[in-house]
Amino acid sequence: MKIDLLSTGSFVGGQPHGQFDWLRANQPVAWHEEPGGRGFWAVTRHADVWAVDRDFQTYSSEPSVMIADPPAGESAVGANKMMLMMDPPAHTQFRRLVRSEFTDPAARLRAEHIHALAKRIVDAVIARGECDFVSEVAGEMPSFVIAELMGLPLDDGRELYKLTEILHSAPEALPPGASQAAMARMFEYASGVIAEKRARPDDHLASRLLACEVEGRRLTDMEFVMFFILLVDAGGDTTRNMLAGGLLALMENPDQLAWLMVDLDARLPSAREELLRWTSPVICFRRSATRDAELGGQAIKAGDKVVMYFGAANRDPAVFDRPDVLDLSRAENPHIAFGTGPHSCLGQHIARIEIDAMLREVLTRMTAFELAGPVQWLPSNFISGPQTMPLRFRAS
Ligand code: HEM
Repeated sequence: MKIDLLSTGSFVGGQPHGQFDWLRANQPVAWHEEPGGRGFWAVTRHADVWAVDRDFQTYSSEPSVMIADPPAGESAVGANKMMLMMDPPAHTQFRRLVRSEFTDPAARLRAEHIHALAKRIVDAVIARGECDFVSEVAGEMPSFVIAELMGLPLDDGRELYKLTEILHSAPEALPPGASQAAMARMFEYASGVIAEKRARPDDHLASRLLACEVEGRRLTDMEFVMFFILLVDAGGDTTRNMLAGGLLALMENPDQLAWLMVDLDARLPSAREELLRWTSPVICFRRSATRDAELGGQAIKAGDKVVMYFGAANRDPAVFDRPDVLDLSRAENPHIAFGTGPHSCLGQHIARIEIDAMLREVLTRMTAFELAGPVQWLPSNFISGPQTMPLRFRAS
């Protein structure tokens, strides 16, 4: 079996489950070459991904959680300050600043409003009978929600979301300089938010972040910018891709869609978890070994890169009965699409509310779904999902 988990070509039709299955069965912790880099261990079993994600003392999130190292000199000023790329105790201090905004009860307080947004999004396309489901429906929700959380105009949420899409694409799939230009625009925008919210503070997250303290001092501008980019970045095309990939999976499994529609309210929770397992929008995150260790029978050396493949873990037959079958009624579903351990997805309660609201709105108001053109997948080895999905439907 040819294994290539770096080429975006391996991810053009969704995640490479053929490669994952082979690796999990034959080399669950496999050495993978990396042109221009030191290479990495690819981890595909659920138990091993779980263990790596939780053991931050052995598997550090510094200097980066992306497979490629940050360009020389960059980690000290930029990426290093994003909490996604910190270990406890520094990570815990930063996460504590925003944790209360993202608890289950806090997310539930937003539910009614999120439902209203979902209605508005479907209202905008329903009469046309045709749309690009990714940009016009699935992508609208997370960009509006993050804009609202931060206290920004909704249209700005759309622009920010377009920037995150560029940042998640492989550089070779973009025009030269596009990725750097997107990052520069993000910085510029976040700096504008600092100026605006300092002048006119409100009670949204951006203003609260600017007012809070770590170790008795305010966040630096750079720390704020990094927080801002993380929040915008993490909640955007993950949720979008899950919604678009989820609808696609339902269209490909009409028996499952029919089962769901028999009692949508009661069946949505298990269906949503199964669609999260199925789509696993975050393909992977990297850790770096701080000391020699043993993992899945392999000797890991201090300094080695160790990459957790969430989509592979979520199809592990040791954990999931018939893992390659989409079963919306699955009762036991310990998927790790949101990760596990200290970095487990901060936005998962909000994401679940967004997903439920959008699926409920789409599935009750639209019917007879049909692709109106080819689905194009994001050219990325980091985030998985359709980039465009031309859809025809009838209003029901
Ligand atoms: C379907 C949607 C989503 C998926 C699949 C997803 C997945 C993930 C994963 C896999 C991680 C890393 C977990 C780990 O390393 O163990 C993560 C972290 C994170 N997510 Fe999400 N996410 C989603 C939606 C969101 C949303 C809506 C937000 C914010 C509104 C968000 C904010 C974050 C943040 C801030 C982190 C970093 C947490 C930390 O470093 O402590 N995510 N997410």
